[in-house]
Amino acid sequence: MSQTRKIVIGVTGASGTIYAIDLMKKLQEIANVETHVVFSAWAKKNLQLETKLSLTDIKDLADYFYSDSDLGATIASGSFLTDGMIIVPASMKTVASIAVGIGDNLISRAADVTLKEQRKLIMVPRETPLNTIHLENMTKLSRMGVQMIPPIPAFYNQPQTIQDLVDHQTMKELDALGIKNDIGGRWEGI
Ligand SMILES: Cc1cc2nc3c(=O)[nH]c(=O)nc-3n(C[C@H](O)[C@H](O)[C@H](O)COP(=O)(O)O)c2cc1C
Repeated sequence: MSQTRKIVIGVTGASGTIYAIDLMKKLQEIANVETHVVFSAWAKKNLQLETKLSLTDIKDLADYFYSDSDLGATIASGSFLTDGMIIVPASMKTVASIAVGIGDNLISRAADVTLKEQRKLIMVPRETPLNTIHLENMTKLSRMGVQMIPPIPAFYNQPQTIQDLVDHQTMKELDALGIKNDIGGRWEGI
């Protein structure tokens, strides 16, 4: 039997809560994956604004759900072993706080832990247009090995629905997490 993979998911108040929900739904269907999910206060607000789901629905999609103020949670310590963290969507505020090492909430602390333990950290940064501060923060993190997967749609797979666009993004995130998936929409060559 293969070992359970522990994935930390931080959800912040950038637009695009739908991406986090889709990732959580797909991970719930995959065997031997355990999700540790944190929603920031503004992520909870955007959940209300952008979707029809409640926080209870979200908790049902997670194996473990934490408050962003819970700095005593397991995932706030490097001694709690995980297989990596993804922040989806990542606000420019959270990107900035991670880039300068401010671990004053559970998402930025867990990201700081992920970096110091040299584990996989993936971000889905969402803002447009991007200013130089945003770009410099992302460049700094990228140089440290953080994988940036902004939610930029591809059209070579002829998406027809919003779900098609979201599927393609989630496929990229699962690929980065090293989780095999058959979501589709891959380039098959000409
Ligand atoms: C409806 C709405 C949409 C937002 N979209 C973005 C966004 O796409 N990118 C971003 O960086 N901030 C966005 N913000 C601002 C963040 O929510 C704000 O900077 C907040 O402090 C982020 O905190 P957090 O990272 O702890 O969630 C948005 C705010 C609201 C209310």
